[in-house]
Amino acid sequence: MNAVQPLIHPSTNGTKNDMARITLWIADRIQSSLVDVGKLTRTPEIVQMVHQRFKQACQHAKINVPTAKEEQFFNDVLDELVGLGPLERLMRDDNISDIMVNGPHMIFIEKKGKIYEVPARFADDDHVLRVVNKIVEPLGRRINASSPTVDARLPDGSRVNVVIPPCAIDGPTIAIRKFTKERLEINDLINFGTMNKHMADFLEACVVSRLNILVAGGTGSGKTTLLNVLSGHIPDGERIITIEDAAELSLDQRHVVRLETKNPGHDGDSKVSIRELLINSLRMRPDRIVVGECRGGEALDMLQAMNTGHEGSMTTIHANTPRDTLSRLETLVMMAGMDLPIEIVRKQIASAINLIVQLSRLRDGTRKITQITEITGTEGDTIVMQDLFKFEDRGEVDGKVRGDFEPGGLRSHYTERLQLHGFKLPPQMFMKTMASKNGNSNKR
Ligand SMILES: Nc1ncnc2c1ncn2[C@@H]1O[C@H](COP(=O)(O)OP(=O)(O)O)[C@@H](O)[C@H]1O
Ligand SMILES: [Mg+2]
Repeated sequence: MNAVQPLIHPSTNGTKNDMARITLWIADRIQSSLVDVGKLTRTPEIVQMVHQRFKQACQHAKINVPTAKEEQFFNDVLDELVGLGPLERLMRDDNISDIMVNGPHMIFIEKKGKIYEVPARFADDDHVLRVVNKIVEPLGRRINASSPTVDARLPDGSRVNVVIPPCAIDGPTIAIRKFTKERLEINDLINFGTMNKHMADFLEACVVSRLNILVAGGTGSGKTTLLNVLSGHIPDGERIITIEDAAELSLDQRHVVRLETKNPGHDGDSKVSIRELLINSLRMRPDRIVVGECRGGEALDMLQAMNTGHEGSMTTIHANTPRDTLSRLETLVMMAGMDLPIEIVRKQIASAINLIVQLSRLRDGTRKITQITEITGTEGDTIVMQDLFKFEDRGEVDGKVRGDFEPGGLRSHYTERLQLHGFKLPPQMFMKTMASKNGNSNKR
């Protein structure tokens, strides 16, 4: 190892940024003395080797680490060398679902639906960029000032989005949605109070009976999770094609083809969009098409697919109420650039979509199905909807939202279709306990 300059003394300064800087500096020293450092993995031999060099480097640099802090300090250096630096420990903590880096000195995480700031820090913008490159380079992607955003999937299934300056004003920004190892099942959603058993039974019947379903909600409201759970009810033997921006769905059925969009690569080769994949998938003899999220002109193709023999298809959309979902869908269809009159668009929507399942992430962090709404047809150019189930929010006790799922009081418009598929749902399921005869038909 070359002669090293004494550094700021870790025990004489308190700031986390300095600690991060020293960690980085030592990691650099070790790194420059190794070959192929990019290929280092966390094996016991490597850990031992790094430990030896760590001790040497500390001696050379005259850094006295208090014994109580030594292990932590060494782990930071190790994370720097064989992991994602300050993010490594957060990545390994299975209780953390999201990691959000807002520039070098601010890192937030989400745990059980709540967001917290953590003490971990990067030394500076360059440090964040090194970690960003460690993430994106193995994926064959590149990020720099002229192409300052990347949206990608990590090998473990986690999704990552990076924006760097000049587009990110306060320094490189990273958002990681971790892939959850334990996949939530329908019973988990019932236990979490996301829906009740009646709603779960009804949704299962709808999926098996090939209703076209739109799962709507805000970011992080649980749309993808619910789409995955619902897709799990598709009977074995049906050919399923999934289309996503970054593959998150994981289905147990055997006959599944998974498609994922492609961003332009290094050499400026072309992009493959959700819309192109959707159009292509129609030639792949699908029984069901499951699109991770509709956020552009693919909405029109999705409606057409649903209307032309691919019943039982499903997707998600970003919207806060069923009414909002319909207007959002209209906007997305317009984005296809076909210049269709609004009445035609509404007719297409009304005949394609059977059910909207509305999700919300409530103020206490819990996710609820706030409405299950059927589309029953059109009156003039108005789409007619009815709520079958609704979550009634009854305020908070000790910071927890209290409320009940209530049936809307009307039998499903699709009762006969469900019966044909063997689901004889008891009419009481849809009846209000406290008889209120107010109409639930919801027009727009
Ligand atoms: N019903 C639920 N109850 C509790 N946590 C949930 C629920 N649905 C999803 N989650 C968790 O919330 C996070 C976001 O879920 P996701 O389905 O990806 O949301 P969206 O697709 O709406 O952005 C994930 O960490 C997931 O595990
Ligand atoms: Mg999602």
